[in-house]
Amino acid sequence: MKPYLKVNEWRIIEEGFDPARTEVSESVFSIGNGYMGQRANFEEQYSGPSLQGSYMAGVYYPDKTRVGWWKNGYPEYFAKVLNSVNWIGIDVEVNGEAFDLSTCEVEHFTRTLNMKEGTLSRSLTAKLPGGARIRIESLRFVSVPFKEIGTIRYAVTALDAPAQLKLTPYLDADVVNKDSNYEEKFWDGVSQDAAVDHARVEVRTKKLDFRVASHMVYELAATGDEDQEFHVEADTHKRDKFAGITLSLRAEADQTITLYKYVANVTSRDHEPDTLVDKARELAEDALERGFDALLDAQREAWAEKWRDGDIVIEGDEKAQQAIRFNIFQLHQTYTGEDDRLNIGPKGFTGEKYGGSTYWDTEAYCLPFYLSTADSHVARNLLIYRYKHLQKAKENAAKLGFTKGALYPMVTMNGEECHNEWEITFEEIHRNGAIAYAIYNYVEYTGDSAYLGEYGFEVLAELSRFWEERVTYSERRGAYQILGVTGPNEYENNVNNNWYTNRMAAWTLEYTLQVANQLKNEQPEALKAVAERIGLTTTETDKWADISARMLLAEDEEAGIFLQQDGFLDKEILPVSHLDQVHLPLNQNWSWDRILRSCYIKQADVLQGLFFLGDRYDLETKRRNFDFYEPITVHESSLSPCVHAILAAELGYTDKAYEMYLRTSRLDLDNYNNDTEDGCHTTSMAGTWMSVVQGFGGLRVRGGRLVLNPFSPASWTSLSFKVGFRGARLQVKVSGNTTTVVNEGPETAALTLYDREIELASGESVSGEREPQAGAAGAV
Ligand code: BGC
Repeated sequence: MKPYLKVNEWRIIEEGFDPARTEVSESVFSIGNGYMGQRANFEEQYSGPSLQGSYMAGVYYPDKTRVGWWKNGYPEYFAKVLNSVNWIGIDVEVNGEAFDLSTCEVEHFTRTLNMKEGTLSRSLTAKLPGGARIRIESLRFVSVPFKEIGTIRYAVTALDAPAQLKLTPYLDADVVNKDSNYEEKFWDGVSQDAAVDHARVEVRTKKLDFRVASHMVYELAATGDEDQEFHVEADTHKRDKFAGITLSLRAEADQTITLYKYVANVTSRDHEPDTLVDKARELAEDALERGFDALLDAQREAWAEKWRDGDIVIEGDEKAQQAIRFNIFQLHQTYTGEDDRLNIGPKGFTGEKYGGSTYWDTEAYCLPFYLSTADSHVARNLLIYRYKHLQKAKENAAKLGFTKGALYPMVTMNGEECHNEWEITFEEIHRNGAIAYAIYNYVEYTGDSAYLGEYGFEVLAELSRFWEERVTYSERRGAYQILGVTGPNEYENNVNNNWYTNRMAAWTLEYTLQVANQLKNEQPEALKAVAERIGLTTTETDKWADISARMLLAEDEEAGIFLQQDGFLDKEILPVSHLDQVHLPLNQNWSWDRILRSCYIKQADVLQGLFFLGDRYDLETKRRNFDFYEPITVHESSLSPCVHAILAAELGYTDKAYEMYLRTSRLDLDNYNNDTEDGCHTTSMAGTWMSVVQGFGGLRVRGGRLVLNPFSPASWTSLSFKVGFRGARLQVKVSGNTTTVVNEGPETAALTLYDREIELASGESVSGEREPQAGAAGAV
């Protein structure tokens, strides 16, 4: 693979203009603030290939389902994140000729994503077909402190000779989603307005009546002699869903004209529909008053705070340093935890793929990142999101014929299932396990057991009810089974007794009962209230205990492994290394039928369970299963390598851990899977973070203590990361075999470093030495 982007610790840099790379770069250089996201489309018109993307979190469209063979239980629609008002547009005309990079001779082009400050900039020199040469310097960001504000500084210099310039900043809601099922447009215009000093559009979605209003104001500045007359003519344009202003002026040779565009994008999710227009105007005018530089300073400060609490520093490997910061940056751009109606789409705000909807990725992969690097309300809001969808999850179970309990959707925007492939929609019921696990994970990490009484137990009880009804008792096997499922490994469908699904179901039942007991002692009123509200009976809880004790969890004694599913060992087992490389990736080279019959595993399955329930299995059990399953895993989901990296690290397979880490750390920066043009793999970025902190750092929480067993990959001089834990803020630095932990937070940390228990008070530090791991490195 050709390395394309420049390596730099804090920046992603593209040098030179390669039209074939435009869409990939549009994804990689995306900006976002948890409220809105923007692909790195050019401000000015561009006739080359491009995926336009301006997204407002939570504004979606229920696009009518398109499916070959309709099956009862399918949802009527697939919810899609909407391509919303294009607020970045600034068209440029030079001497009557439109500036379009795809028709120019590009002499110089640099695009930079500044991760430290949360800005995107571009600098270019181009010659238009008519011969005029111009330089463009642009800088834009979506503000973190002022979430509705997006702002752009766009400077045009007429090189060599004077030029007649026309700059047209505009707002355009006449946009499409590339993934629209029926090539429909999703927006209707409500109103638009354009005057000399502002432009505004207001639109509504054709279904669900989401409304968005965008208001734009601007400033214009010119370099040069202050006394020089600076004459600008303004022409306004408006049509359905569009408003803009053309500013015509003459630029002297080498004179720079700078346009500052301030846009407020507001939605009916946060404001009353009839106040939107006024709100947008007020916010845009406020931004103008603050001015570009003040907004930029505030942006820098907001990002400095995020980095202060969650940076990872890798010395001795600049590529790795850049990659991990890129992952952290994208995660913070996607979700800020201020709004419990929002969640994390697998591609964040960087593309349309996966519809911007919520998957089990959030609970299984993303939660730990936010638990460790942000205030605890951020992770809590991810849980509240599911709590608020509990009623819908119950309706979903009822729709599929269950008499009680909740089945959360595999893919959702508002709590309703919107995925429609039977093997995923109906069979990947393991998502219920991850949702229960996230509650456990959150409470273990934060110590916030009040959450259980208030919200958690009710969710757990409804999940348990679902499992109670979903199991089938086998007289023959004397055990409860779960038939006809797809596990996390989507390369096998409709299998019986997927170990992971069964294990997480049994664990959920057990954990629910444990929480009930805990509440009985600690929050009896809360328990009583929930039990009454949902009509919980002891017949049910007794049954849960029985199912959890007698769930079928098949093992093969000879191989010493847990069976991924009943028939797994009937397959021909051949390591991936024995396959000719031309077959890989299997999902692009093999028929689906061949994949399903093969032993090859898409992503961690049994190992996902051993990762989640890691404190219940000894190292030897983990080793046997890892040694068996990893060699037949093709890691064709970007969510796979991280779990393997973490387990490998725990097993002392340090080279393997590093190899697995490398598979996702630069996935998008190097377009490793050739699919980054669809958007970045945002949820897998959280997995990459886990590979470092839980893998190399060995971070776990056990019995209210933060456990660390760090090592640094051999090629790195040192690794440092920061995690918050119950009011402590720990800076962990690993150098060779020595780890030093400094507590920069206000509270004392209950810490276990290399098996040594320490109460690390605020401001204190401690060091520990890692025992040499005899012969373990790379021993797979
Ligand atoms: C994975 C799923 C995941 C989805 C979205 C699929 O390729 O197999 O586990 O939820 O991608 O990231």
